[in-house]
Amino acid sequence: MIDFWTRLAKPGDSDAIAALNDAAFGGPDEARIVRQLQADGDSLLSLVAENDTGLVGHIEFFRILIDGQPVGAGLGPMSAKPGLQKSGIGSYLIRTGLEELEDLGETIVFVLGHDTYYPKFGFEAGTAKPFKAPWSGPHFMAIRLAPGGPASGTLTYPRT
Ligand SMILES: CC(C)(COP(=O)(O)OP(=O)(O)OC[C@H]1O[C@@H](n2cnc3c(N)ncnc32)[C@H](O)[C@@H]1OP(=O)(O)O)[C@@H](O)C(=O)NCCC(=O)NCCS
Repeated sequence: MIDFWTRLAKPGDSDAIAALNDAAFGGPDEARIVRQLQADGDSLLSLVAENDTGLVGHIEFFRILIDGQPVGAGLGPMSAKPGLQKSGIGSYLIRTGLEELEDLGETIVFVLGHDTYYPKFGFEAGTAKPFKAPWSGPHFMAIRLAPGGPASGTLTYPRT
């Protein structure tokens, strides 16, 4: 287990977050998506993990409309620094982020991602299935944070 801590991302972190995403994904697409979400006001929560060398992880959560209402959240992109992956950074960012979103009153979070990774945190394809989205299948998952959110509906993602 390596030593790191998490905090809310600040405007001055954006270049370091972009560099982290470029390194983790091996291309510029995810960094561009993060900048677009921030610029359009679609970001709900942006958390970084850092240690005394700088940023070692990042997770982004964004607003998803359900039947036109701002009652859904999406997870992504997320990244851990190459060389430090599989040492718990991603897991900690997901768990911390979900707790924060629950505190903010969010009831459901969607993700499109690795179907061997996100179920560790409670995401299930079955939870996402009643919702109409541009994608479906085992990689499209959701987790309920609290009762009371919509049981089904059409999702509108931010432009990216
Ligand atoms: C995916 C990513 C964010 C995970 O962060 P991380 O800090 O490496 O993950 P953790 O150390 O918390 O891993 C926790 C568990 O998930 C597993 N895991 C990590 N990455 C995985 C992957 N891509 N697919 C399946 N399992 C994965 C780990 O082996 C570990 O398993 P264990 O708990 O059984 O030991 C990170 O590996 C990364 O940046 N990858 C490149 C970018 C990417 O693919 N982002 C996600 C897009 S959906």
